[in-house]
Amino acid sequence: MKMQVTPTTRTAAFLALFAHAAAAAPTTIKASDFAGSATADVYPPSGTPVNSELFPPESKVGFPGPTPTGVEPFAIQTAKAYPYNDGNANQFPLVIPQPHGSDSASPRFDSSKYWGNLAPWYSLRSSDYGLPDASPLVPESCDITQVHLLYRHGARYPTSGAAPGTFAQKIVNATKTGLAVSGELAFLSDWTYKLGAELLTPFGRSQNFLLGVEYRQLYGHILNNFTAARTLPVFRTQSQDRMVKTAENFAAGFFGVGEYQDQVSIEILVETPGLNNSGAPYEICKNSNVASKGSIGSTVANRFAANVFNSTIARLQSQASGINFTSVDIIAMLQLCSYETHALGYSSFCSLFSEEDFLNYEYYFDLSFYYNNGPGSPVAAAQGKSYLDEFIARFTGEYPAANSALNQTFDNSTTFFPLNQSIYADATHEVVVLDTLVAFNLTALFKGPPLGLTGNRRQNSFVASKLVPFATHFTAQVLSCPALQPTKQIRFIINDAVIPIDESYPGCPVDPNGLCSFDHVVSVLQKRSAEIDFDYDCFANYTASAGVDYNGRAPRL
Ligand SMILES: *[C@@H]1O[C@H](CO)[C@@H](O)[C@H](O)[C@H]1NC(C)=O
Ligand SMILES: *[C@@H]1O[C@H](CO)[C@@H](O)[C@H](O)[C@H]1NC(C)=O
Ligand SMILES: *[C@@H]1O[C@H](CO)[C@@H](O)[C@H](O)[C@H]1NC(C)=O
Ligand SMILES: *[C@@H]1O[C@H](CO)[C@@H](O)[C@H](O)[C@H]1NC(C)=O
Ligand SMILES: *[C@@H]1O[C@H](CO)[C@@H](O)[C@H](O)[C@H]1NC(C)=O
Ligand SMILES: *[C@@H]1O[C@H](CO)[C@@H](O)[C@H](O)[C@H]1NC(C)=O
Ligand SMILES: *[C@@H]1O[C@H](CO)[C@@H](O)[C@H](O)[C@H]1NC(C)=O
Ligand SMILES: *[C@@H]1O[C@H](CO)[C@@H](O)[C@H](O)[C@H]1NC(C)=O
Ligand SMILES: *[C@@H]1O[C@H](CO)[C@@H](O)[C@H](O)[C@H]1NC(C)=O
Ligand SMILES: *[C@@H]1O[C@H](CO)[C@@H](O)[C@H](O)[C@H]1NC(C)=O
Repeated sequence: MKMQVTPTTRTAAFLALFAHAAAAAPTTIKASDFAGSATADVYPPSGTPVNSELFPPESKVGFPGPTPTGVEPFAIQTAKAYPYNDGNANQFPLVIPQPHGSDSASPRFDSSKYWGNLAPWYSLRSSDYGLPDASPLVPESCDITQVHLLYRHGARYPTSGAAPGTFAQKIVNATKTGLAVSGELAFLSDWTYKLGAELLTPFGRSQNFLLGVEYRQLYGHILNNFTAARTLPVFRTQSQDRMVKTAENFAAGFFGVGEYQDQVSIEILVETPGLNNSGAPYEICKNSNVASKGSIGSTVANRFAANVFNSTIARLQSQASGINFTSVDIIAMLQLCSYETHALGYSSFCSLFSEEDFLNYEYYFDLSFYYNNGPGSPVAAAQGKSYLDEFIARFTGEYPAANSALNQTFDNSTTFFPLNQSIYADATHEVVVLDTLVAFNLTALFKGPPLGLTGNRRQNSFVASKLVPFATHFTAQVLSCPALQPTKQIRFIINDAVIPIDESYPGCPVDPNGLCSFDHVVSVLQKRSAEIDFDYDCFANYTASAGVDYNGRAPRL
């Protein structure tokens, strides 16, 4: 295939800059200070090939998934409070009211931290997982040489067929046969369902854009490697519309709107049933779609919910007739609180629920994710194996084998799967991020006994909203610290918390900064990959049940 070199306005801008600089300081700045210096801090140098033919856009790739749009947000008229920017950077410009039962004397309660995978991401601290002295900043006497990022799309509408739409239908039905609401529920008399499906919301766009801005600010310097090589990085995503938009918003934040098109190759891998794709392994892992294996978490989460909302149901029921609320409706209304806030900026559903309701809502998600895609799932490690193997490939410089959901057609060439980048960025779904953390054996994130099915939340370090919120991101830093350690080092970070690996990577020392020898970590990961049997876990007929820590792997018969 022919490389397309797209001349851009960069050259002109560069010349203009030079002309200006030369005029201002003719004796101190020479053309050679800019031109021909491969290591100059200008990314990308003019003339770097841009290859839009090999990396076609969404319109050419197809497979965008469903894309029903919702009603335009109108917070200026529908919100009960204005979104002043008073801090809370993780949720601006959303407005999140205080829960039911709180008064002005109650300490502020941020319910959005209890929304499981519907939470907006916020920074964790390394102390959350046992490294009180670690910072994501490069430790003193170290230099960073490489960064690997795996991140989730920002806030989206509900997926197709999710609980909120069914609840809306129930309201429509009840309205026809005589729904009467009062008090806290009065708003339901003229409430309508305004959400689309699947797509990123405006706030979701900002989360991925901001992540791009943040990562440019943190790691921009190591673009030098691409500058020196006169080559563009390949950042990857899936073909679903929100996934493409996620990668584009990230790239726009990282490189600039109107600039990223010429500064990064965005690789869009088709996501559809039956096709290999590391970012969507459930499309070929059969058992992940068998309820008794792939969604044992959903089952126990629903059972949990059926028992903890009775007093809330009674309170709301006393303000409505012509409808009978169930725990399924409560979960749907809690989700409407999350989704309407993300899509419309404000939701009247949020203040229906108490602090305790939000804690139960979080635990509902904790159960669901721990047993669907965490260590309690028999198919989590198998599904996370594709990214594990791709990371190992990038670590070792050797192309990965095909015994996972990865797509070898793309993973066998320097064009589509380069192994020498200083910066990697892959976008995916939250379930896959969690599967990947399990495949990486990062057991500090799941420390403690398996989650109790009726709610003993404090015995395990796993909290869904910390690991799988909108725009969650997992980062591997490769470092060189000659004054501390003779060999290359590596460490892992989740949403700004450095993860300790001394227990899960046998042979890694206890280290206050979460560091371990790169070569040793790679050998542990290779061992871990070898023990994950994709074919068995994804296709065999075994029996799995919630309540067990499987370390993400199917039980043997
Ligand atoms: C609403 O009514 C329709 C038509 O009777 C029915 O098919 C549907 O199941 C009802 N939906 C809900 C959520 O009650
Ligand atoms: C990576 O390797 C490819 C193929 O050898 C080369 O074209 C490219 O410039 C290299 N990229 C970097 C960032 O070193
Ligand atoms: C790999 O991906 C490409 C495009 O995304 C697709 O055409 C191909 O069928 C995939 N391979 C497999 C085995 O799924
Ligand atoms: C809550 O209500 C459900 C349905 O009526 C009932 O089966 C369950 O036992 C109740 N749970 C508690 C803890 O009261
Ligand atoms: C609600 O439940 C009661 C008691 O089971 C039943 O009599 C009534 O018809 C139900 N109402 C609706 C709207 O389903
Ligand atoms: C797709 O995945 C299956 C299962 O691991 C594997 O056997 C097959 O070789 C893969 N195909 C490609 C093109 O990667
Ligand atoms: C990469 O995969 C494609 C499709 O399976 C195959 O045709 C090609 O020969 C492979 N290239 C290498 C270098 O293995
Ligand atoms: C990037 O370049 C620096 C300086 O030349 C080098 O130390 C580092 O190893 C390079 N990183 C990669 C991933 O090649
Ligand atoms: C995974 O972590 C556990 C500790 O939580 C450890 O016992 C086990 O050896 C690790 N597995 C691998 C393959 O390193
Ligand atoms: C799986 O095993 C169970 C229990 O032995 C059996 O009832 C079921 O039919 C099997 N399912 C398949 C798809 O073979």
